[in-house]
Amino acid sequence: MNRFQDKKVVITGGTSGIGLATAKRVVAEGGQALVTGRDEARLAEVNEIDGVTAIANDSADPAAADALRAAVDEVFGGSVDGVFLNAGLGAFQPIQALESEEFDRQFGVNVRGPLLQLRALEPAVADGGAVVLNTSIVNDVGMPGAGIYAATKGAVRSAMKVFSNELAARQIRVNAVSPGPIETGFFSATGLSEEEIQGFAEQILDQVPLGRFGSADEIASATAFLLSDDASFVTGTELVVDGGMS
Ligand SMILES: NC(=O)c1ccc[n+]([C@@H]2O[C@H](COP(=O)([O-])OP(=O)(O)OC[C@H]3O[C@@H](n4cnc5c(N)ncnc54)[C@H](OP(=O)(O)O)[C@@H]3O)[C@@H](O)[C@H]2O)c1
Repeated sequence: MNRFQDKKVVITGGTSGIGLATAKRVVAEGGQALVTGRDEARLAEVNEIDGVTAIANDSADPAAADALRAAVDEVFGGSVDGVFLNAGLGAFQPIQALESEEFDRQFGVNVRGPLLQLRALEPAVADGGAVVLNTSIVNDVGMPGAGIYAATKGAVRSAMKVFSNELAARQIRVNAVSPGPIETGFFSATGLSEEEIQGFAEQILDQVPLGRFGSADEIASATAFLLSDDASFVTGTELVVDGGMS
């Protein structure tokens, strides 16, 4: 398949996990990817991949949205066909441990980030292009401890529906991919210890009918579908990819 032949795609959080797998898919199918991240070593490594340009751009920083647009102008000549707003993080606290700083941190990256990025990038998205936001099944399953994280992803899901209507006049499709538990660096970034992650993973596994974690590649497949013309009549939809968990 060459669904991304000569297509240009921006992917936030594209130096690891789901974002990186999606960038590799875009390139494998003939396209070019501009990806963001923060860790310099990972950025340098990903920059070595043919067809991928990796830049430092922190989704927590509101000013970084305009910097991302400037990079699109420089790298892609001011026009993109696809945008995958994927960078995100999660941390878990039960009600009595909720903290204002944690609320700001997660909402800053997971909600304000993609909203400002879309504001900055939308004029560069070609008519007929596609936008995909990364949500999570936490917005639907009532996972204890995920109050803030789930709220961020629910907010993104709602915003996706709005944007799908706002951009429909330009034939730009806006959808979300909603992963279940996926084997990536996500869990190391939660602040949980290795032992806690192991316990958490075992607990989750019991709830997945397919009996395993998904891979980043499996989310990349769904995202590539939504970004491509294969999904030409799909907009305003959240595509759940969770082994049946939700
Ligand atoms: N893994 C799961 O089970 C799962 C389930 C549902 C939803 N998701 C969602 O999937 C998305 C991607 O996560 P992943 O699982 O692929 O995790 P991952 O392997 O940790 O990848 C996260 C990527 O985002 C980048 N990133 C993190 N914070 C960033 C920031 N402030 N600005 C720019 N880039 C940033 C990371 O690079 P740097 O650290 O270098 O910045 C990395 O490239 C997230 O939105 C997450 O909520 C994951």
